[in-house]
Amino acid sequence: MPEGPDKDCTLCPRLAAYRADNAAAHPDWFNGAVPAFGGIDAHLLVVGLAPGVSGANRTGRPFTGDWAGDLLYSALKGHGFASGNYDKRPDDGFELVGARVTNAVRCVPPQNKPVGAEINTCRSFLTEEITGMPDLKVILCLGRISHESTLRALGLKPSRHAFGHGSEYEVEAAHRHVTLLSSYHCSRYNTNTGRLTEEMFNTVMARARDLADAP
Ligand code: URA
Repeated sequence: MPEGPDKDCTLCPRLAAYRADNAAAHPDWFNGAVPAFGGIDAHLLVVGLAPGVSGANRTGRPFTGDWAGDLLYSALKGHGFASGNYDKRPDDGFELVGARVTNAVRCVPPQNKPVGAEINTCRSFLTEEITGMPDLKVILCLGRISHESTLRALGLKPSRHAFGHGSEYEVEAAHRHVTLLSSYHCSRYNTNTGRLTEEMFNTVMARARDLADAP
């Protein structure tokens, strides 16, 4: 079972300092490195960017309470990857079914923007997730940073695997064949500007479903 970073991880000084500021201002928030959500035996791993300050950083569950979580969890449920009602709380009883959700960077970054060194440092935890999932068949990367960090976690070059909405690559992960599927991030910015529509996101999720169900 991947252990993930300590809640009070100090590997990235800027992120640890930002977490400390948030903890001082909002002592009732989670304010820590957010652990993955869902079973380790899942076929699907969704990799987001990083916790939002008043979303996953507050609740302690990836995407929970973040704008992006509404679309992500509705699409996961719509394609049979979740059960129960998502109610933006870690104790809402919502459960993932055959899916696991994590982030390329586990701690909230200022302005939602992790720097390269932070993405690189946190990658060891992403690698640990991928190699620790015995039944993994498909990795769904949300956004370019997730796509590139996941490729690097697998020892592959982003220059040879261009990011695109719906891009798909057969890759080797811990001696297994896995499909690396990518989507534009389901962020407020992308959905408000029309770069990503609900239909586009659901089309990618349907593909993830097919890949997860393939023998
Ligand atoms: N919340 C997360 O946990 N991850 C994202 O990528 C966006 C919001």
